[in-house]
Amino acid sequence: MPGAEEAAGPASFHKELYHRLADREPDEGTRREAADFLRAKLLDVASEPGDLPDAPEGLVAWMEQNTRDVHARYAAYLQERKAGAPRRYFFNRAHALYVLRSVAPTKLVDGAWLYGLLPHWQSPRLGDLVRTYVEELGEGAVDKNHVVLYRNLLARYALDPLDDLDDALYEQGLIQLALAWNAEAFLPEVVGFNLGYEQLPLHLLITSYELNELGLDPYYFTLHVTVDNGDTGHARRACQAVLDMLPRLDDGGAFWQRVRAGAKLSCAGLGTTDVIASFDGEREALRILARKATAGHGAHSEYCRVAGRSINDWLGTPQDMPGFVAALEQAGWIRFGEPAENSRFWSLLQGPRAEMFGVFSTYELQVLHDWMRGPASADGRPFTETAPAGDKPKRRATFRALARNGAGLAAPADDALDPDLMLLREQMRTADDEQRTALLVRAMSPAQHWTPAGLEATRVFWGALAG
Ligand SMILES: [Fe+2]
Repeated sequence: MPGAEEAAGPASFHKELYHRLADREPDEGTRREAADFLRAKLLDVASEPGDLPDAPEGLVAWMEQNTRDVHARYAAYLQERKAGAPRRYFFNRAHALYVLRSVAPTKLVDGAWLYGLLPHWQSPRLGDLVRTYVEELGEGAVDKNHVVLYRNLLARYALDPLDDLDDALYEQGLIQLALAWNAEAFLPEVVGFNLGYEQLPLHLLITSYELNELGLDPYYFTLHVTVDNGDTGHARRACQAVLDMLPRLDDGGAFWQRVRAGAKLSCAGLGTTDVIASFDGEREALRILARKATAGHGAHSEYCRVAGRSINDWLGTPQDMPGFVAALEQAGWIRFGEPAENSRFWSLLQGPRAEMFGVFSTYELQVLHDWMRGPASADGRPFTETAPAGDKPKRRATFRALARNGAGLAAPADDALDPDLMLLREQMRTADDEQRTALLVRAMSPAQHWTPAGLEATRVFWGALAG
């Protein structure tokens, strides 16, 4: 049965294999497991229709049509918003942050599907895709490397740790990593995956627009709007790469069929719009409280009591957070549907003399804040901003406006004191040409390219190739 081993596997199947492929260079056995996973996945998607044209000749027209459709739908969206429609994706600020956190496993391996082509950079038919990979890596610039940008986004909005994300959120990233480490066996699928993944999706445009509107940094997303453009960007190059790669000898269309299968993989797993739809503010708030309960159990005095039970007692049963919340509401500590400041519980978490100041991250506070406020949180107010006087909601500054006023972050220096960087420099000094290339290729893997050593390797590699 297709995918049966996954279905029968542990609840953390994707996450576990993902980390073995993403955190370090995987061994032979792990690469084989990843290849088996890809084969099962390809069987899973085999019956899906896919949206590529029947013949490769129609590819460029297909790409252009997709771009036109997306632009038309985006124009309709903008029109709708201008006429007063609410945000389509993010109900409140917590919702947007939840989505940024949930899609992290995919974004943190951005570009990985092309890595396996890098050792073959001398092949004339692979030049364009190698270039696309190096561009995903920002050509080694710390403020352009897509993975570094996403890591900074997670840090900036306190979206770490990610250890309790659902296993299903790792599936798409796992596909990308599995392709990275098995490119030789899956060349047509890699090329097809790239074709599917690099087309401009509508959700990228709307996400960028609504993040900016909420005062959240949209740069990672706007960057992809520009690099995926259908004129000279990754979308067109992805079409060209397929056309360049098709065998000149008659293979009965086998290569093209595998390209089509690979393109289907680019939509497998949970996508951005699935994650957007999965948000439930109450469930996320309860998850956060249950997580803190484990850490905070025993840290409270026995005098603190709610509904006749000590706080320590309540926190001793993290699975009973709904009961605890109901008791807090009953006792008047939480007042749903009112400004968070009206809740005694909130004043314990946030404010100048909050007893639990620093216990919750800024992301967690935003989730709790928006959950308590309920429908009013649609105004997108950050929890750090006090409620405006009167009933007139304050007009929110967009991220771009905030950045213009100097609220943007400076790019961190990448020449850090770093053991891998020192080791790479040392090894490069004593290596011959062939060894140097191998060292650079290794340092540019999904596990390392975003580190100071990886960024330096990318700059050296690209400098040598472009120069
Ligand atoms: Fe990217």
